[in-house]
Amino acid sequence: MATFDASVFGLKDSSLIKTQGLIDGKWVDAKDRSTFQVTNPATLEELATVPDMGVEETKEAIDAAARAFPSWSATTPKHKQELLHKLHNLMVEHHDDLSRLITIENGKALSDAIGENRYSASFLDWYAAEALRTYGDHIPSVVPGLRNVVIKQPVGVVAILTPWNFPSAMITRKLGAALAAGCTAVIKPAPETPFSALALAELCNRAGFPPGVVNIVTTQKNVVSVGKEMCESKTVKKVTFTGSTNVAKLLYSMAASTLKKISIEAGGNAPFIVFDDANIDEAVTAAIACKFRGGGQTCVCANRLYVHASVYDEFASKLAAQVSAFKVGNGVADGVTHGPLIHRRALEKVHSHVEDAVSRGASVVIGGKPLTPDDPSSSFYHPTILTDVPTDALVNTEETFGPLASLTKFETEEEVLHLANNVDVGLAGYLFSRDVGRVWRVAEKLEVGMVGTNVGMITQAAIPFGGIKESGIGREGGPRGIDEYMNEKLIVFGGIGA
Ligand code: SIN
Repeated sequence: MATFDASVFGLKDSSLIKTQGLIDGKWVDAKDRSTFQVTNPATLEELATVPDMGVEETKEAIDAAARAFPSWSATTPKHKQELLHKLHNLMVEHHDDLSRLITIENGKALSDAIGENRYSASFLDWYAAEALRTYGDHIPSVVPGLRNVVIKQPVGVVAILTPWNFPSAMITRKLGAALAAGCTAVIKPAPETPFSALALAELCNRAGFPPGVVNIVTTQKNVVSVGKEMCESKTVKKVTFTGSTNVAKLLYSMAASTLKKISIEAGGNAPFIVFDDANIDEAVTAAIACKFRGGGQTCVCANRLYVHASVYDEFASKLAAQVSAFKVGNGVADGVTHGPLIHRRALEKVHSHVEDAVSRGASVVIGGKPLTPDDPSSSFYHPTILTDVPTDALVNTEETFGPLASLTKFETEEEVLHLANNVDVGLAGYLFSRDVGRVWRVAEKLEVGMVGTNVGMITQAAIPFGGIKESGIGREGGPRGIDEYMNEKLIVFGGIGA
């Protein structure tokens, strides 16, 4: 096992760095003492090792969460709100460290990590308030003498499986809702980015959440068996997952064995449509944020940019001017706007999409290659713009998840709607036009769960996040996000005598 060197993290509060899992309020190793290494994608240096846990530890964490459930669920909504607020305030207090931690393990530029930590904390603020609002219903009875009341109750133990692209926010979006509802949780963070999750768990302890309410199982080699245990355990009443569509399908099939509640936020392949009457400068600025945030590694980022033929050249040249001003490097360095991709496999996927598009006739306007082509381990990719990308190119049919803006020309609204909807997934979509009729029409017809009209950044804690088709099941955040962690129970009152 490598010696833990806190200085590589450079945090003000080095006790936020935890290198063990959390089960029943105790920091623990894997039973067989096995560990895996976590590396900084910018420097490729080893940050530290964390336990490579398995099914046994997962069962222990689930049992701990089950033991903690009766008392946590029975606490008052006000108490849940107070602890969630404390956790939120601790995230704000440690904002610099938590943001830096995101950059160090994920690679994204510090400006993006700062945005993520704020976004992440905002879910706790939102759900602290929601803890007070788990209202039920009274439904007038059609049968004389009866009264119908519906109450909401927490589902129980929740398994939370999160990705590396938002190491913090994808946890709080689920955990905030689960805790506010009165559930207890077992979290399995992505092996690439466990430290933000572990720091959050440390803050949960500091905030005063009782032992067993929040548990963390870190694993790399046993991801499949740990996921299977979470999905098949009869004690776990809900699984919530953010990640790829392929893994989502596997988890969904595993969860079928117990018919448990499941929320899935899977892959996207967002169309970004610029009509001829759009404000091109605004559309370009939106495309920069929407396409290149986090190196293009977000599920909602624009993947396919469809630009009307009459404004195509103007849009492409203005986009290229802004992209050429990016500074790519280690995300913690001054002035860096874009970091590396998470790992080499991610770079290889982006490059394969570039090569495929070019082989089908696309032109490279800028980038199109790794930043340091002679270094076979680096995952820095040159921010890229391709034009004249044919509609059947891989980048138009699959999610790229990288800094590749692929531009395709269109002529008519009907044509672009067909292109936009001609995929199996439907998470987010964007359109730019100043014709209000067209905005309504196209927004309604896009087969996605979320539409940005004349805007490239749409997410907040207060909105229902989620997709349709193969992009997912359920919604996170927003006024009904907490319902994903609650069961409705009908209570019919008879014998009233009137
Ligand atoms: C995601 O990529 O899944 C999350 C993006 C967001 O919440 O803004």
